Amino acid sequence: MKGRRTVLLGLGAATGLGAVAIANHFQNQQQSAQPPLEDRQKVRDFTVVGKATLQERAANKGIIYGAAAQYKPLTTNKRFAQHFAQECAVLVPANELKWKTLRPTPEKFNFSRSDWMAEFAQKHNMLFRGHTLVWYQALPKWFEDKVNRKNAEKFLTEHINTVVQRYAGKIYSWDVVNEAILPNSSKQGLRQTPWLRLLGADYIEMAFRTAAAADPQALLIYNDNNLEYDNAKTETKRDRVLKLLERLKSKGVPIHGLGIQSHLGASSRGFNAKRLRNFLKDVASLDLQILITEMDVSETKLLVADDRDTIIAGVYHDYLSLALDEPAVNTVITWGLSDRYTWLSHFAPRQDGVPVRPLPLDAELERKLAWNAIASAFDQASPRNIKYNF
Ligand code: G3I
Repeated sequence: MKGRRTVLLGLGAATGLGAVAIANHFQNQQQSAQPPLEDRQKVRDFTVVGKATLQERAANKGIIYGAAAQYKPLTTNKRFAQHFAQECAVLVPANELKWKTLRPTPEKFNFSRSDWMAEFAQKHNMLFRGHTLVWYQALPKWFEDKVNRKNAEKFLTEHINTVVQRYAGKIYSWDVVNEAILPNSSKQGLRQTPWLRLLGADYIEMAFRTAAAADPQALLIYNDNNLEYDNAKTETKRDRVLKLLERLKSKGVPIHGLGIQSHLGASSRGFNAKRLRNFLKDVASLDLQILITEMDVSETKLLVADDRDTIIAGVYHDYLSLALDEPAVNTVITWGLSDRYTWLSHFAPRQDGVPVRPLPLDAELERKLAWNAIASAFDQASPRNIKYNF
């Protein structure tokens, strides 16, 4: 933690994503044990006292709350931007720092959108988080023709240097490598990605070392999905992620935390509290911070007649209460703030066409039950005794 930026708390995301990856993700969610629907619809009390925002309630406990957003709604919907700045202590550009957005050609970078978002964050006293430097998706069309075994290292390191240096002092934390593990892969559990094919397993280490040299103060995170539920595949994935983190730490790789995406499902079976807690504890014992980086709750299998909001709020509360039990979990980021702008409307819409409601604010920017569930999980969390040296 030494040398990283100190942040004063309280001052203050349909074509690129592989259909197979999405299908696997949601299938994975459905595999785990399910409390009966009647139980999940039981009215639960998520009343909270006062009008404090999510970021304030989180900060009261030493937790950082924020959300992902896209450039367009922030620049075109003033009310949305205001609500965003009120509720959130962190802004994460959902797409604007991905290769596809930043790299229109192999030679050129286009920072116009990400620069605007960095300014927005600064203006509103928010932290700014980078997503993501190395991923197998959202690569530009030219990538496949231009990048080969000979020049891949140069492309990777130049990209990281250019982007991380540009935002040094502005981006407090980076998702350096995103979704590199696949439970059933034979290659140390590593997902077959262009990076693995071109550079071998060391690309992960290379990315972290390059990012650390480009901004020694930034908090460097490994981020992944499908780590939350209770089924054999997920258990294997947790194990492989843990082994990756252990390897990186034992080699002195500058990695400071794990990002657990937490795209959850309202129809998914419950969590296994013991297993999840043990995983979080194992990660924490490596002297790593834990961030919930992309939380939302999809509802493809629920009927409109079901009490969707109650069920979704219940998932938020159950999961956050469990996760926040582990003191190393110090950040909660939702993948969007308002249902009006959720990626799930395009990627996991309801078959009946009824709009989905996966986020804390509804499409009209009103606080809904999911908001209360998050607020009450923050109110009930134990205070962190952590001084944030980012
Ligand atoms: O901007 C273009 C627009 O000009 C065009 O008209 C439209 C037509 O489809 O596409 C728009 O771009 C889309 C972009 O989202 C903005 O909405 C891309 O096609 C689409 O691929 C892109 O999807 C994003 C996806 O990552 C792939 O990058 C989602 O918004 C974003 O929420 C999602 O985020 C990922 C995280 O990065 C990693 N974890 C999972 C998470 C959810 O899939």
